[in-house]
Amino acid sequence: MYRTYMCGELRASHAGQTVTLAGWVNRRRDHGGLVFFDLRDRAGIVQVAINPDLSKETLSLVANVRMEWVLQIEGVIQKRPEGMTNPKMGTGEVEVVATDIKVLNPSKVLPFMINGENDLPDENTRLKYRYLDLRRERMTRNMVLRHKVIKFMRDYLDKEGFIEIETPIMFKATPEGARDYLVPSRIYPGQFYALPQSPQQLKQLLMVAGYEKYFQIARCFRDEDQRADRQPEFTQLDLEMSFVERDDILGLTEELIIGMVKTASEVPLAYEPFLRLSHAEALERFGTDRPDVRFGIELVDVSDIAGESAFRVFAENVAAGLPVKAICVPGCGDYSRKQIDELEQISREAGAKGLAWLAIDPETEELRGFITRFFSVEQLASLIKRLEAKPGDLLLFSSDQPTIVYEVLGILREEMARRLGYKEIAELAFVWVVDFPLFEAEKKEGHYVPSHHMFTSPQRQYIPLLDSDPGAVLSEQYDLVCNGYEVGGGSIRIHERELQQKIMQLIGLSMEEARDQFGHLLDAFEYGTPPHGGIAPGIDRLVMLMAGEPNIREVIAFPKSQNAADLMADAPSSVSQRQLDELSIRLKG
Ligand code: AMO
Repeated sequence: MYRTYMCGELRASHAGQTVTLAGWVNRRRDHGGLVFFDLRDRAGIVQVAINPDLSKETLSLVANVRMEWVLQIEGVIQKRPEGMTNPKMGTGEVEVVATDIKVLNPSKVLPFMINGENDLPDENTRLKYRYLDLRRERMTRNMVLRHKVIKFMRDYLDKEGFIEIETPIMFKATPEGARDYLVPSRIYPGQFYALPQSPQQLKQLLMVAGYEKYFQIARCFRDEDQRADRQPEFTQLDLEMSFVERDDILGLTEELIIGMVKTASEVPLAYEPFLRLSHAEALERFGTDRPDVRFGIELVDVSDIAGESAFRVFAENVAAGLPVKAICVPGCGDYSRKQIDELEQISREAGAKGLAWLAIDPETEELRGFITRFFSVEQLASLIKRLEAKPGDLLLFSSDQPTIVYEVLGILREEMARRLGYKEIAELAFVWVVDFPLFEAEKKEGHYVPSHHMFTSPQRQYIPLLDSDPGAVLSEQYDLVCNGYEVGGGSIRIHERELQQKIMQLIGLSMEEARDQFGHLLDAFEYGTPPHGGIAPGIDRLVMLMAGEPNIREVIAFPKSQNAADLMADAPSSVSQRQLDELSIRLKG
């Protein structure tokens, strides 16, 4: 037997017992001839005092022991003397006085320190030695949290009558708006499987099959530009239900998420029940369909006031039916010219032609900003009243096409919140966004682009509009958003062949292409398909937010780097000519 206790379990009540422990040397300290190790296993850390009476061989072995060596230690648990206890450690009241030590495996000098949060190397070094990085307390904590989250999901859904069903990884293209990862077939030269961007079609087919309540902790694969909250492969809690309406899915998901947060973490929820916004309202108030609702700085329409001013851009835009909107940023009224220039640069990058602003001096209450001279005293007073601005506030304006106004002010709102520390507020502000348009505002190559995916149902009352004005059709899509991240998306689906084919046509698939790519689903719809719907919360993003981490790589054991590579195993990598030949693949160049 390698051990009788875990290091982290030992307490004062164990005093006097002889124990065997096994673990890693977390730290070594030499105090005037006495040597102490902190020995670590997954349960925690305990202090080991090296008994100077040990045999000569053992003591000379101890002299060599360095960080991260794996030892087996036999010893007696002793209460630490008064004043020597460490209340920060679970095991802080005891130490183990070693009677024997065995080296199970030594360690080379580490590429980086793993027993602290400081002195971490760049992320790529961490990823190259991920097995060492994962030894860090913070990473262990994240992995345990992830385990608890997934366990809660499984237990909850099991209790609700769902069954977990695995679906294939080698399948046919299941588009979610990204590029596919392809797997070449040896048996069918020149043909490819696609890795699923999600199990969307398969879970719908399970509804056709009559399973009614399905879920899966599902790996999804998407070849898209990387971001802090994106990985080429990531994990969803994928679920689907039959004979349900939107609010059935929202209710179930909300109860699951609330239970999960309360069971697995200590982060408070900002809203219970979750806030609910229509897509239009989210844009109007926050400039984005994934609003961070932990703070205000909401967009305010000032078109009526600004349109009357002598500022030409505003007056002309309002006359042309375009809006003027503004945000009021508290405490930034003393911004320097340079700081304002930075904000103007950010606005331009977001698509603005410039940035109009007004600063209210915190002391004199005087107004600064080039647009002041184009506004009468009364107009300025109305603006300040409309925006509920106070001395010391900074007002930022945008006027353009509505989509640009939302984009610019949405980005400025986030930027100012970051500067003011609002992005650090330790709470989870979940909000449902509903009533999305069925199609994106902008067409691609003359065709409509689904705002969610092509299987999402239009809201019934809008179906007649599919012929006359598809852009105005609202859908049964819903997104779950938390702290500015989209953490889940789903919809009530189309379950009739004709309607599904119509949507496929609108997005530019010919009848032939639709048959070729989705014939199995269209056929299935003709064999008794129940009305159904579902959702897929993104597990990586949820765990990231619960753990307070800045990106999802911190909550994935072996993530890809920001450049989509596995730096530890070195993937992707070249393969042998023989393998290529077997797959009938010839490389270009
Ligand atoms: P959607 O594409 O909205 O919906 O994805 C659902 C959720 O998955 C997470 N997510 C990601 N997480 C990490 N890295 C990525 N690259 C990534 N892409 C998406 C997000 C997102 O909200 N089949 C539908 C669901 C349904 O309709 O039921 C789907 O996949 O948190």
